[in-house]
Amino acid sequence: MMWGRFGIVAAGTSAALLLLSSPVRAQGTGPSASEPALSIGPRFVETSGEALFASVCQSCHMPDGKGATGAGSYPSLAGKSRLESSAYPIAVVINGQRGMPPFGAMMSDDQVAAVVNYVRTHFGNRYQDAVAVEDVRAVRRQKP
Ligand code: HEC
Repeated sequence: MMWGRFGIVAAGTSAALLLLSSPVRAQGTGPSASEPALSIGPRFVETSGEALFASVCQSCHMPDGKGATGAGSYPSLAGKSRLESSAYPIAVVINGQRGMPPFGAMMSDDQVAAVVNYVRTHFGNRYQDAVAVEDVRAVRRQKP
């Protein structure tokens, strides 16, 4: 249900359902070059941290980053000392954490860096040590 909040994920899901119900598939002719691989999930197309936050994060963490409690509990990202160590938000975005889904497979290293840099420099956070693509790669190499 939560996934319905993401237009792009919902669109990818319906495309996958269409593929699965197509007669070509049912006849078992095997994948052809023109068919998209189902194992490659939908990916976000936004590149700026601001746009990524708006599409991916703010539905849970709210546009002001202050989070919300109600049907679920979404922590505030505003003025957060826990974001000081940049590896932490990188890992949370890539691997997810409890109620937060993992986004590592849906974002490039550049996108993860962009959205983490955005969060670490907005909502009252002023961490000037920008995350680089290499930092994201280093976290991806670690097993969650
Ligand atoms: C489906 C809802 C949801 C979405 C979307 C989401 N989060 Fe989260 N996020 C959560 C929840 C729930 C937690 C608390 C996880 C826990 O209990 O440890 C969390 C925790 C975090 C934390 C750790 C906060 C802390 O206090 O330790 C960070 C950082 C974070 N999210 C960043 C992001 C970013 C950046 C995005 C967008 C790329 C994002 N989240 C998208 C639900 C979400």
